[in-house]
Order: sequence, then C-alpha cells, then structure tokens
Amino acid sequence: MEEEGKSVGKLWGGRFRKETDRRVRAFGDSLSFDFRLWPYDLQASEAHARMLIQIGVLSPAEGETILKGLQKIYGEFMDGKVEPTGEEDVHSLIETLLVKWAGEVGKKLHTGRSRNDQVATDLRLFLRDEIQAVREMLFELRLALADLAALHCETLMPGYTHLQPAQQVSFAHHLLAYYEMFTRDDQRLEDCLRRTNVLPLGAGALAGTTFALDREATAAELGFSSVAQNSMDAVSDRDFVVEFCAAASLVMVHLSRFCEELILWSTPQFGFIELDDAYTTGSSMMPQKKNPDVAELCRGKTGRVIGNLTGMLAVLKGLPLTYNKDIQEDKPLLFDSVDSLKGCLEVFIPMLLTLEVNSDRMSAAAEQGFLNATDLAEYLVRKGLPFREAHAVVGKVVLYCLEQGKQLEGMTLEEYHLFSSVFEEDVFQAVALQEGLKARRVLGGPAPEIVKQRIEEIKKILRKTD
Ligand code: ARG
Repeated sequence: MEEEGKSVGKLWGGRFRKETDRRVRAFGDSLSFDFRLWPYDLQASEAHARMLIQIGVLSPAEGETILKGLQKIYGEFMDGKVEPTGEEDVHSLIETLLVKWAGEVGKKLHTGRSRNDQVATDLRLFLRDEIQAVREMLFELRLALADLAALHCETLMPGYTHLQPAQQVSFAHHLLAYYEMFTRDDQRLEDCLRRTNVLPLGAGALAGTTFALDREATAAELGFSSVAQNSMDAVSDRDFVVEFCAAASLVMVHLSRFCEELILWSTPQFGFIELDDAYTTGSSMMPQKKNPDVAELCRGKTGRVIGNLTGMLAVLKGLPLTYNKDIQEDKPLLFDSVDSLKGCLEVFIPMLLTLEVNSDRMSAAAEQGFLNATDLAEYLVRKGLPFREAHAVVGKVVLYCLEQGKQLEGMTLEEYHLFSSVFEEDVFQAVALQEGLKARRVLGGPAPEIVKQRIEEIKKILRKTD
C-alpha cells in the first residue's frame, strides 16, 4: 500500500521506506525548466492514448475519459492556470493533473510508456517546431540580404584580407557572402530535422514493452517520418540535440562575424554604415556615444551557444547505455541555444533592414590602399609578362607611389614607363576601380553583372522555398 504523502509529486515510491531528502528533490527536479515542454507532452500523450485504444489496451470508454482529461489540461495550461511547482518534472505534472481530471483511469495512460521514451519524444517534437521557426527567420535574413545587395551591386568597397585593404569588391558581393553562409546553415538545419523527426515512443524505459504497441500509428499521428529502430538507442542518445547545437553554433558564428563587421563599419574611422537609433544605445556619462549593443550582444551570445554545444558533448561522452539522469542536463543547454539564437535573429534582421549605407565613404575607402594593384599586375600579364614578374613590377610601382604620395590612378604614362616599357594608354582603364570590378567576371566573382545574375538566382530560390 502506498503511504499517504510519499507519492505526492512522484510517479514512484512503492519500494521506498523513506521520503526523498528535500535537497535531493530540489537538486534533481527538472520541472522549473522542462515545464515549457507541456504542449508536446500533451500531444504525445494524446497520440499514445489513441494508439492504446486502437490496440485494445484501453477500452473506448477509458480512452475517451483520458482524452477528455488531456483536453481539459490543455485548456488549463492555455489559461495559465498551471504552476510549474510541486512535481518532479513536466511528465509527472501532467499525469497528476490527468488523475485529477479523469480520475483513476488516468493512471492507465502510462501503460507501455516510460518517462525515458516520453521525454525523448517531447524533446524531438519541441525541436522539430523550433528548427522550423529558426529556418523561417533564416529565410527572412537571406531575403533581407538579397534585397539590400540588389541596391549595391555597383557600390565599391574595399575587400580585406588580414583586415588590410586587398582588392575592391562591391557591398553587394560582401553581403552575399553572408547569404551563402546562412543558406548552408539552413541546409544543416534541414538535415538535422531529418534525424530529429524520428519517434522514440514505444521504446519504454529501454527495452520495449510486452504490449503490442503500434508504433507506426503513433508516428503517423505525431507526424514523425519514421520510428526509432532500437529501443536502447531511442532513450539514450541525444545526438539530435548535439546536431542542433552545432548547427546553431555555426549560425551564431556567421552572425557574430557579420556583427563584428557592422561594429567596425559603424565607427567614425570607417563610417561605412550607420545603425538606426532604434538598434543602438547611449552612454550614461558620454553624451556623444552611440553604441552598437545589439551587434555586440549577438557576438557575445555566440560564446554561450558554442558553450552549449561543448557542454552537451561533454554530458554524453561517458554515459553507459541507456538512460542516465545526466541526460536531463540536455534541456537547459538546448533551450538556451534555441532562445539565444532566435533572440539574436529577432533583433539582427530589423537592425540590418534599417541600417543606412554610406556608399560615398565606402567608395572613398576603396580609393585608398592600392586595391587595384592586382588588376594592374593582371594587365601586365595580358601584355605578355609572366605573373611573377608582373607582381614584382607592380610592387615597385606601389613603393614609388607610396614615396610620391600617389595612387595608381594618378600616375602618368611616363611614370609607368620608369618600371616597364609595356605600359600603354590602356593602363588607365586597367587601374580604374569600377573597371577592375567589372572585369572580374569569373563565376562567383564580384563583377556587377555576375552579382546581379546571382541575385536573380537567389530570388528564384527564395520564391520557391517561400
Ligand atoms: N526529467 C527527466 C529528464 O528530463 C525525465 C526522464 C526521467 N526518467 C527517469 N527514469 N528518471 O530526463
């Protein structure tokens, strides 16, 4: 017989002589953080109940009472009437509420089910929705990048390596580099979704059940594309969480690099862009300040998201099969990655859409730093010099310009002839910045013609996936 009190907030207790120490309860309970899984726990419970009715484990009348109870609980949650207190986890909470609303028959729902396969199912249902939500945000971001790029195919800006001026590109080309990164991120999430969308329920605690559960039916009802094929694997691995944390880390790393650039470009020294007031903050002491907090916080939160990935790998690495309580630590890490990522995208996208581009400053910066030196070397190659020799000649021209305080565009033909006799009048076209940009028509290159083609393709891709 169960003693009064011992089973409060517990799904077990029969084989215990003592109450759990209250500190152990506080230490081990997960309700404070797994409470948010309630819609998924109810969804999975409903599917489980329907299947139990179908296979005759629950009578239609029993099943009906349980389903009505679950509906009632759903309403209570929706009305904000359920508090995240008093129970070990969200699964215990819902079962307790079910017994409250459906009576004794509620105790039959857990037939052939364990919290081990239940929590894995809930988490997969949760992540499936969140992957979808993140992918929708990435879609918005990719669209925003393509739209902004379309306005700046001819906007010159310096391209850098080592943060030193390297070759002139367009602002559009720079933006579309991020388009490609976020597109691959989206593909990674799509791939992660494929392996997340597999049903663990029916695995029981670890070794299935003697009841002839129809797992295919449960999977179909919950929209899972397949059923986990090994009950031990189903309850013990969280590789799908690791995969999401990894994909999220990469989105964040890409976002963080972009943020670093926005921060740099919005300094008075660069002045390439100005962030909208609504996405910046001031200083309590220095009246002139306008700080790029949003971009900095996105960069900062990248650290946490990477931490969640390494944390999740570390939780799993020494675990014997199958379920171990350690695995409960998956949720704070996964939830934090989901929330951080969505939180960043939510502010980053409108920040990008509202920033002002200072095209003149970008073009002026492109006139500094001999960005056209490589174009000039390639000009000499076309005049017959081997590239290595052309490189050496232009190196000397650059040194001369540095000493004379000149740009390559400002040299006279006579001056060019000091370095090689092959220079002709057409050298001025070769060093004209816009001309050099136009000439880099290689596939994937920055020529406006090529970038415009790419934008067309991107718009087609985005229209298809919309
Ligand atoms: N709260 C637990 C978790 O999040 C649910 C599974 C508990 N299973 C168990 N046998 N203790 O992992």
